[in-house]
Amino acid sequence: MKSILFVCLGNICRSPMAEMMMFNLVKEAKLSDQIKIQSAATSTYEIGNPPHNGTIAKLKEKNVPMIEHYARKITDNDFEEFDYIIGMDNSNIDDLIKLAPNDKAKSKIYMATSVLDEQYEIQDPWYDENFERTYQQLAEVLPKWINKVSE
Ligand code: 4NP
Repeated sequence: MKSILFVCLGNICRSPMAEMMMFNLVKEAKLSDQIKIQSAATSTYEIGNPPHNGTIAKLKEKNVPMIEHYARKITDNDFEEFDYIIGMDNSNIDDLIKLAPNDKAKSKIYMATSVLDEQYEIQDPWYDENFERTYQQLAEVLPKWINKVSE
């Protein structure tokens, strides 16, 4: 069993979208019993809140099934438990490095687009409500993460 934790600042826009898209892709690939997926925040801003309405609407539009989710902050136990801790932008990576309890935990931190030849930041739709762009960016990288994790 491999495990992936998607992480963003608030855990209401990007990382829950990544979690639910990935859950669906893994299910379609018949790998649900081999890859565990969750999401978490680097901040406490949105703890306990459900995903942003824009994330919910975009997943519905794309026929990606919703999973019940409430925002939570990453814990030391997550750094222990998960194999891949995947941040969405440079600031997430900086925050994760600061939050990681030890070097082993630091070695599990990855940028979402590190599976591409050219890395870019998964843009935060919190500011401009462009959830389609977030969806498209995640759709580009997530299948590559399935390949990487199942190697
Ligand atoms: P996310 O978006 O990190 O993709 O969930 C944000 C959500 C909340 C805030 C910022 C970004 N906030 O400042 O509360």
